[in-house]
Amino acid sequence: MKRLQLAVIGSGKGSNFASILQSIGSGQLAADVRLVAADKPDAGILDLARGAGIETHLIDEPRFRTKLSPGVEAILAERMSAADVDLIVLAGYMRVVKSPLLDAFPGRIINIHPSLLPSFRGLDAWQQALDAGVKETGCTVHWVDAGVDTGKILAQSYVPVLPDDTAASLHARIQIAEHALYPQVLQSLAEEWES
Ligand code: GRF
Repeated sequence: MKRLQLAVIGSGKGSNFASILQSIGSGQLAADVRLVAADKPDAGILDLARGAGIETHLIDEPRFRTKLSPGVEAILAERMSAADVDLIVLAGYMRVVKSPLLDAFPGRIINIHPSLLPSFRGLDAWQQALDAGVKETGCTVHWVDAGVDTGKILAQSYVPVLPDDTAASLHARIQIAEHALYPQVLQSLAEEWES
């Protein structure tokens, strides 16, 4: 049986990556993580990868905060191609993906976003949900295209907004849903990849 070969890109603590690793370890996800990349040297996701013996790549981009310059993204795409991955998994990556990576992995990059898209695209989606006064929000796994959180939706989970929620409590509840949803979607893709 072919296992799905993954690369993960993040900018933060890597709790979604941790849930993916846990699902692989428990046999619920038939995949391997071959490479983890991050754009911050102190990103927790890199420590988690090193602890699991997974190859890491530090993205060196001093010029921009919300995107990569074409040359830097081309180096990232080359590392991903050399690692021979089937799918790129964005897990808390805080930059827009541009053509060097999109063209190298067409239709093979997915992301998780902490809202029920198309509502609340972009930054701090849980705060946007609180500000809008909605009673329900959630998370969405979607294919990545050239827009910001605009790609085709693969799956969503619903999360209630409680009357006394703060930004932190709501984001924490959304993250619990994310940690269940992302590995499930990856396993569905792994099963499709085989056939
Ligand atoms: C998650 O809420 C995810 O939806 C968003 O960034 C956060 C990453 O968290 N894209 P983590 O680094 O996986 O803990």
